[in-house]
Amino acid sequence: MSAISIRPLGPSPHIRAALSELLIETVANGGSVSFMHPLAREHADAFWDTALAAAARDERIVLGAFDGETLTGTVTLHLDCPPNQPHRAEIAKMMTRLSHRGRGIANALMHAAEAAAAERARTLLVLDTATDGGAAGLYEKLGFRLSGEIPDYALKPHGGLTGTLIYWKRVGA
Ligand SMILES: CC(C)(COP(=O)(O)OP(=O)(O)OC[C@H]1O[C@@H](n2cnc3c(N)ncnc32)[C@H](O)[C@@H]1OP(=O)(O)O)[C@@H](O)C(=O)NCCC(=O)NCCS
Repeated sequence: MSAISIRPLGPSPHIRAALSELLIETVANGGSVSFMHPLAREHADAFWDTALAAAARDERIVLGAFDGETLTGTVTLHLDCPPNQPHRAEIAKMMTRLSHRGRGIANALMHAAEAAAAERARTLLVLDTATDGGAAGLYEKLGFRLSGEIPDYALKPHGGLTGTLIYWKRVGA
C-alpha cells in the first residue's frame, strides 16, 4: 500500500459513489453506523448527498483517506453544535474499507479530525460507539475517556440490540 493521504471531501458524484460503497460494505459487515442491513444504494447516496452538502456549508467536515485514488476510509467531524456549545464538535461515521483495515487508517483519520477541530477552536470532542462490535479500543488508545454506557440503545445492522458507549476528549487546549 502506498502512503495514506487524508483530505476533506466535497460534493462530487465520484466521491459520493465511493462513500456509498464504503457505507454499504461497513453495514453489511455489522458496523454500527446508524443503518440496517441491507442498505439500499439510493439510501446511502441520499445520506452522503446531505452530508457533503452540509460539508460545503462548513457545518461538518467529511475527511477521506486515500490509497492513491482509492477511498479507503472516512470520518466526519460535526461542527453544527447549538449556540451555547461553540467549543464542541462530534465525531461520527468512522469507517475503513475491509480490504484496508488494521493498517492505521482510522488512527490517521482521527488525528486529522482532531487537528481540524483544534484549528477551529473546537476543544471538546464527543462520540459514541456500540458496546457490541464497536470501536471502543480505537478511541481509548487515542485518549478518549469513557463517560458511560446507555444499554439497549440501538439495533445492530443484522438485528439484536446493543448498548452505546459515550466518550469525550479535550483537544488543542
Ligand atoms: C473501527 C474501524 C474504523 C478501525 O479501522 P482501522 O483502519 O482498521 O483501524 P486502525 O488500523 O487505524 O487501528 C488503530 C488502532 O485501533 C485499534 N482498533 C481498531 N479497531 C478496533 C476495534 N474495533 N476495537 C478495538 N480496537 C480497535 C487497532 O488495534 C489499532 O491499535 P494499535 O495502534 O495499537 O495497533 C474499522 O474496523 C471499521 O470500519 N469498523 C466498522 C465501522 C465501525 O464500527 N466504526 C466505528 C463507529 S463508532
